[in-house]
Amino acid sequence: MTEAQAGPATRGSALLAARARLATDPRQRLVLALDVDDSVVAMRWALRLRPWFGVAKVGMELFSATGPSVVAELVEAGFSVFADLKLADIPNTNRKAARVIGGLGASYLTVHSFAPASLRAGVEGFAEGAQSTGLPPPQVLAVTVLTSEPDEPGTTRAQLEGRARAAQEAGCGGVVCAAADLSVVRAVAPELLAAVPGVRPAGAPAHDQVRVATPAEALRAGADLLVVGRAVTAAPDPEVVAAELLAELVGAPA
Ligand code: C5P
Repeated sequence: MTEAQAGPATRGSALLAARARLATDPRQRLVLALDVDDSVVAMRWALRLRPWFGVAKVGMELFSATGPSVVAELVEAGFSVFADLKLADIPNTNRKAARVIGGLGASYLTVHSFAPASLRAGVEGFAEGAQSTGLPPPQVLAVTVLTSEPDEPGTTRAQLEGRARAAQEAGCGGVVCAAADLSVVRAVAPELLAAVPGVRPAGAPAHDQVRVATPAEALRAGADLLVVGRAVTAAPDPEVVAAELLAELVGAPA
């Protein structure tokens, strides 16, 4: 029986354990977006910023360029890996892809939430794949609404609530959402982890992100994981920005 099939009690204890890890090690709340197309460059960034970032995010660009080996390399280097592959296929395909990613030792996997049966299949496949790794149970994070989307009529409150509810019912460990959407998500699914992209220190460029937040704003809104890419990697002094980000997390409620 997989963890996803085991029911709310098992999922609840896995989530409590995940929260405890975040509370004891603030680095586990900082997610470095490795948005590059080369494993050597990715590993160089990851190792350079390892003192501050405990989670390395492998997105579609890096995964397409390197295949699964970069996930194993990052796990080997001590990172929790956030596989940001935003799966959005039929249930059978989602399940099988998620099983493979789980077997690689990833801690988080993103799956789109607009198709509940596919989301649930992703949760089950990820848990099944992870059983062989001996690592703590990993968590699927349901993608709600992309943070590059402007706040427009297409994204209604009801839609956001529906996706947060779908995440909970599918057995996800959390959601990915903009800081501004967290109050709506929390009202529907208070116990889920919230990963917030679009995070930038005050005054830093927004790039193509429309719905950005400072780390303090994201934390006040209830973010558990802060996803940071260009705010660090494009900064003149990445180590300084990384240290400032971690300082905001030390002592912040988890
Ligand atoms: O460089 P920046 O901090 O804008 O990167 C944000 C990262 O978060 C990117 O890797 C992007 O794919 C990811 N992301 C996002 N919005 C989501 C989910 C993930 O920007 N809703």
